[in-house]
Amino acid sequence: MRHFTHLKDLGPKGQAALLKVASEFKRNEPGALLKGKVLGMLFFNPSLRTRTSFEVAMAKLGGLSVALEEGSGVWKLETEDGAIMNGDKAEHVREAAPVLSRYVDVLGVRAFSRGMGQADDDVDGVINAFRRHAKVPMISLESAREHPCQGLADMLTVEESFGQTQGVKVVLSWAPHMRPLPKAVPNSVLLHAAAAGCDITVAHPPGFELGDAVRAEAQSYAQQSGAKIRYTHDQRAALQGAHVVYTKAWGPEPRASEDGIVASPALRGWMPTLKHFEPCASDAIFLHCLPVRRNVEVSDEVLDSEFSRVVDEAENRLWVQMAALAWLFGKA
Ligand code: CP
Repeated sequence: MRHFTHLKDLGPKGQAALLKVASEFKRNEPGALLKGKVLGMLFFNPSLRTRTSFEVAMAKLGGLSVALEEGSGVWKLETEDGAIMNGDKAEHVREAAPVLSRYVDVLGVRAFSRGMGQADDDVDGVINAFRRHAKVPMISLESAREHPCQGLADMLTVEESFGQTQGVKVVLSWAPHMRPLPKAVPNSVLLHAAAAGCDITVAHPPGFELGDAVRAEAQSYAQQSGAKIRYTHDQRAALQGAHVVYTKAWGPEPRASEDGIVASPALRGWMPTLKHFEPCASDAIFLHCLPVRRNVEVSDEVLDSEFSRVVDEAENRLWVQMAALAWLFGKA
């Protein structure tokens, strides 16, 4: 049984193959490949793009989808083994996952980081608990560690913009925010760009390092794909010749209080403006997974500029997810 909860389920070759399928589906919609199949989606956190694009993907493939929101008309769920369930959680994943598996043919889960640090994110407890107890293929709708469908959509957007991903200079640049946001998206940008053979620079202020396990996994993909990976605290130097400026806010490590992250004038300079694009390549593009807080993470002038491909990037969620769903059923 196939799952797609982390990039390691595909690896570099699998990602390349799935991007080809997604491009083909975008050119020629495949019709009712998944006729009669049902996708169940369980959201522990809100969504605009993920929920809509998965529902539309299943409809285009001839199937159905059911979306459930934990704690909102659905029992609050316990995922820890051995928990004494005398709190507000009425159902355990050990029952919920196999029961849902009797109704649906593929199960998606969105469960963000608990904010307990990189080691806890790496365990990815909620999605892995579902993966252990579900009896059907699982797909990630974003978990504590990764957002693999976002990573695929990002690489499809890079490929469409530059005709390839190999050697494309991608700068993942930290951005300010009022809150220490999770690292699933920056982790996935690094992992998927490494698997796609990009020339990646991760630029962030001191104290905002990505986790060791994610960095080691990215390096292992780079050895297979020929990607180059650098880390720097010098944003301006990183942007020299950049083809892709990918901005994302994420929290410090170890996790700090929520104060002071955006308040520091030194850190506010990390928010991209048009000036940040001056050292970039003339055909540079700007990416962000969305949602984005305008004039906190990214300036209006960048989001409204010709550099921005954020809407194309969001559209590509649909095509890569159609490809991923087809792959889970052996149809791609
Ligand atoms: N990028 C993304 O996953 O968007 P949503 O949170 O709106 O689903």
